[in-house]
Amino acid sequence: MTDLLNNATKVQNECLKKIDSSLIEKSKRPHFHLASPCGWINDPNGLSFYKGQLHLFFQFHPYSNKWGPMHWGHAVTKDFLSWNFLPVALAPDTNADIDGCFSGTAMEDGDFHLIVYTGVVSDNAVQNQCIAIGDGVEYKKLENNPVITASNIPFEYDVAHFRDPKVWKENGTYYVAAVIKTQDKSGALVIFKSENPKEWKFVSVADRSECKLGMMWECPDFFSLDENDVIVISPQEMKEDLEAGWHDGNNSVFMIGKMNRNEWKFNRKSVYQIDYGIDFYAPETTLLPDGRRIMMGWMHRWEGVSTPDDYLWTGMMTLPRELKINNGIVYQNPVRELESKRINPVSGKINLFVGKTTKADGVRGRHFDLLISFEGISSDSGSLEIQIASDEKYSTKINLDFEKYEMSFDRSRSGTRTDCETFRKFKFEIPSDGKFDVRLVCDTCSAELFACGGRYAFTNVFYSPLEAEEIKFTSSKALSFDYNFYTLV
Ligand code: FRU
Repeated sequence: MTDLLNNATKVQNECLKKIDSSLIEKSKRPHFHLASPCGWINDPNGLSFYKGQLHLFFQFHPYSNKWGPMHWGHAVTKDFLSWNFLPVALAPDTNADIDGCFSGTAMEDGDFHLIVYTGVVSDNAVQNQCIAIGDGVEYKKLENNPVITASNIPFEYDVAHFRDPKVWKENGTYYVAAVIKTQDKSGALVIFKSENPKEWKFVSVADRSECKLGMMWECPDFFSLDENDVIVISPQEMKEDLEAGWHDGNNSVFMIGKMNRNEWKFNRKSVYQIDYGIDFYAPETTLLPDGRRIMMGWMHRWEGVSTPDDYLWTGMMTLPRELKINNGIVYQNPVRELESKRINPVSGKINLFVGKTTKADGVRGRHFDLLISFEGISSDSGSLEIQIASDEKYSTKINLDFEKYEMSFDRSRSGTRTDCETFRKFKFEIPSDGKFDVRLVCDTCSAELFACGGRYAFTNVFYSPLEAEEIKFTSSKALSFDYNFYTLV
């Protein structure tokens, strides 16, 4: 183990001790989401099931609350909700990755845990793909890293942008899909294969943006689900388009279609936003032994940091979400294990009258699972406003406007820094049977919302003082709904 790796783990463990010994620091943390142990985290990496537990690595800069030379932090869970931090897995400590160990993926490979990641060198001017092999705790980088470089690619591209390998094995052959910036400055997904997995051959350009779906692409994933093939991509530099569901800047999309496995070309049939919230990026998926395909995303964003300056940590991950495809659309819902955290159930019907703000007994707190269902919804149903984390001073507002088919999140009065985006909205459709459901999972400082059975996901964070814990409902017209509310522990 190198000094760089040892030191990163030492800094992480000291910070975790500090948090553990302070009630105030502990209270700022989420209860069942993974949050940075210290310093800065971004993308989830290497999400994979290995030796009986779920492993999650993450882009990690333990030394400050800002992005810096990237390490791979490492945590494991058995119940998908409580995480244990392990020693930092990778540090930028070899000639192949001296400027950073960027994002990548991992898979179980026989007895071993195989990591493929991006090594950054030459003052961030060159990115290549590297391998590390481990036992679930310690990882050894290959001596002949990098294993996939420009010499593998039979055409010119921008060598400063070739990253985020997704690794998988199919019919005994290893595959890697990674993203590159092509000469028109937009993104493409390239595929390689290997038998060992040390020597790699270029296979194809499976899909490309051609400046139409953002510019450079990041963090690809590829999997088959319910008879469809799905590519996940996080495109940069998109332009806002409410009808299409895009927001300005970085987005993350599902591309549904079929991969031609002879030519490794993707026949893309549809593309849509994965999560409409402010705080969601760079998701990765993996397959659990019980057959569930789960996904986790970075619950944060590049465009503006919302975490308060005096926090010891910056960045959280979403809950693991189970994915399903219905009629060509991916549905997402929190892993079912979340239900084991429910206590104190309260349920009933709320009838709202115009101009009257309503609260329900037992419906309050900052750790909860709230399920709401409406019947007979149409574009005449007006709108519902849900205020969470609210008191006399603070309020975080979620608005469901059935007349405009718009849902919004407003954290301008939540106490969250206002030098980053405070408002986000997106368009939804009302199902033809008029049934509309919303599930809101709140954990200290995050709100993950799932609507229409998981058809829409809307993830936003807010850092209100913890005393702000009222939940209130208001509507623009008379409106009724059934609710089930659970405190989560
Ligand atoms: C996406 C990303 C990746 C890169 C990593 C660096 O958020 O830009 O493309 O590997 O972050 O930390």
